[in-house]
Order: sequence, then structure tokens, then C-alpha cells
Amino acid sequence: MAFKPRVFSGMQPTGNLHLGNYLGALVRWVEMEKTHECIYCIVDMHAITAAWQDPKELQTAIRDVTAAYIAAGLDPRKSILFNQSQVSAHAELAWIFNCTARLGWLNRMTQFKEKAGKDRENASIGLYGYPVLMAADILVYRGTHVPVGEDQKQHLELTRDIAQKFNSDYRKEIAEAGYTDGEFFPLAEPVIMGTATRVMSLRDGTKKMSKSDASDLSRINMTDDADTIARKIQKAKTDAEGLPSEEAGLASRPEADNLVGIYAALKDTTKLEVLREFGGSQFSTFKKALADVAVTRLTPVNAEMRRLVSDPAEIDRILKDGSERARAIAEPILAETKRLVGFIG
Ligand code: TYM
Repeated sequence: MAFKPRVFSGMQPTGNLHLGNYLGALVRWVEMEKTHECIYCIVDMHAITAAWQDPKELQTAIRDVTAAYIAAGLDPRKSILFNQSQVSAHAELAWIFNCTARLGWLNRMTQFKEKAGKDRENASIGLYGYPVLMAADILVYRGTHVPVGEDQKQHLELTRDIAQKFNSDYRKEIAEAGYTDGEFFPLAEPVIMGTATRVMSLRDGTKKMSKSDASDLSRINMTDDADTIARKIQKAKTDAEGLPSEEAGLASRPEADNLVGIYAALKDTTKLEVLREFGGSQFSTFKKALADVAVTRLTPVNAEMRRLVSDPAEIDRILKDGSERARAIAEPILAETKRLVGFIG
């Protein structure tokens, strides 16, 4: 079947959103909203997989992430914005996919290994099955395009494997249901684009910027004020040399490469352009310019987020409306899936 292009993506409401989430995903989402039908989810069911979440804090985080989506430029009248747990079709399809996915596939997932760490026996089953729920998130809408940062690539490969195996396991039923090309679920494509698909820690250019890093200086949070942003950039780790004039000069200089990449992404330009302007400059000069760009770009988003979270009832209304629209798409696809599997109902 020629699938209608449909964008799906999501973020976890755990901790603060940071510059990596903003540049690696949100900016792309806003762009795709202009040309595509988009569904953007706050994945609250994923949020409880790694560690116990304080229920009050989880509620606040769900509203904060919703506010961040809108403050970054998404329009809730155009795109569907909702929290995952309000659409139970995700969990139901995930169960069917738990029976499609193979243990061997999940054993290869590097994020599970990283998150579970040494104490694997003590990790939740939910953390292990996390990528299966992610596949269900996408495929319950027959999502075709998934804008994400680099770190989600492996999960999206798994999503394609699950779609392919489901299409193959039920090929007879799928053909009988009238899908002449045998495709019931699309093989969703990752959209990993731009100069900031992997924003690194400000303290260590070899580590991903992450909400779980113990040091707050390692990341710029979307809630940081102008002074904090400037201070974190000023304290960012660098090496002793100045900036090179060509991109090749950034090789084996992860911190320099990261800061130049962040500047390029914030200015919607390329690393090469940035180096044309700053090649030969000292980091002290470049960091001042970077702080200015970051503050100019992020503080209006920050102010809008603050305005939005001051009215939680309005955010809850947006999520309810989004959930209703999401259910209207997901429920018929789930019902058809259940019929293919042989469930009566
Ligand atoms: P999460 O909540 O960890 O991250 C949300 C998005 O931000 C991107 N990202 C980054 N991009 C660049 N540099 C970084 N340092 C950085 N850190 C995070 C992530 O790649 C992601 O796009 N499993 C997903 C959530 C999810 C999902 C889905 C995504 C659940 N279901 C279905 C797409 C489709 C996650 O944990 O993202």
C-alpha cells in the first residue's frame, strides 16, 4: 500500500529538556509541521521505565514538555500533541509486538545496556521492552517519518524489523484483507538531519548531552535563564588551540567540534560557514559570540514556556484534545491489527 506520509515522534517527560533535545529533535519537528501531517507525543509510559518517578513531578514534567513543544513553535491546532498514556492503543499494540519481536533483537539494544548498567537483573521489564513500545507508538498511526537525534537510530531499525516481521508473519491474512503489496505496516524512516543530530556534553565532548548527566554544567536546559546559559558556555571545556579555518581541523577535537556544531545549528548555517567567520579566533571570543546566539535563540522560548505552564488547565485541555484526535487514527488501525492476528471482537 502506498502509505500516506505521516510524521510521528516523541520525548520523555523526565527531567529538563536540553539543547540536544531542542536542536536534535524539536527544531526539526517544527520544520516538518509546515509540510506534513504530524503527531508529537509526550511519552509518559516510557518515562516510568528507568526509575521510579514521583507522581507529582511526573505530572509537572508532562506539562513542561508540552509547553516546550508549543514554545518551540509547534501549533496544537495543526499537529496532534498528546501524552501517550491517554491513548491505550499504544500499549495494546506493544503487547502484540512483544510477541513479534525476538529476544535476540532486544539483547542488541545499546541503550538498554547503557541504562541498565551493571545491575541488569534489577532493571524493569519495561526498560527492556522500551523499544517495542516505541515501535508501537509509531506504527499504531502507520507513521512513515520519524524525526529524531542520532541516538534513536537503533530503535528505529528495530521498528522496521518489527513491521517487516509482522507483515511477513501475517502475509496471508494481510493479502486476504486486500493489501495487494503485502504491506500492512510501513517501514518507517528515521529523519536524522542537520548539524546537531548528536549534541555533546559541554564538559566532555565524547559524551552525549543528556538529562541524566550528574553535572548540570554539562548541558544547557531549556529552562536556563540568560546568565546561566552564558556561564555554562563560558565554562565549557575546550582545548588550548584557537579555532581552525577548515572542518578537517576539528577532527580529534571533540569539544571544539561540538561548540562549532551548536553555533551552526543555532544560526541555521554550516560548520564551514562558522569557521570562515571564526577561524583563527581564540575560544574566549568564540564563546562570547556563542553565548549571544544561544541567549537570543533560547530566551524567547524559555519565556513562552513559562507563560504556558502558568495555565496548567489549558495545557491539560490541549493534551485531551490531542488524545482524542490521536485515538481517532490509532483505534481503527489497532482494530484491524487485532483482526489480522485472529482476535474476535
Ligand atoms: P528522548 O526523550 O531521550 O529524547 C527526545 C529527542 O531528543 C533527541 N536527543 C538528542 N539529539 C541530539 N543530541 C543529543 N544530545 C540528544 N539527546 C536527545 C533524541 O534523539 C530524541 O529524538 N525513545 C525516545 C522517545 C520515543 C520516541 C518514540 C521517539 C518514544 N517513542 C517514537 C520517536 C518515535 C527517547 O527516549 O527520546
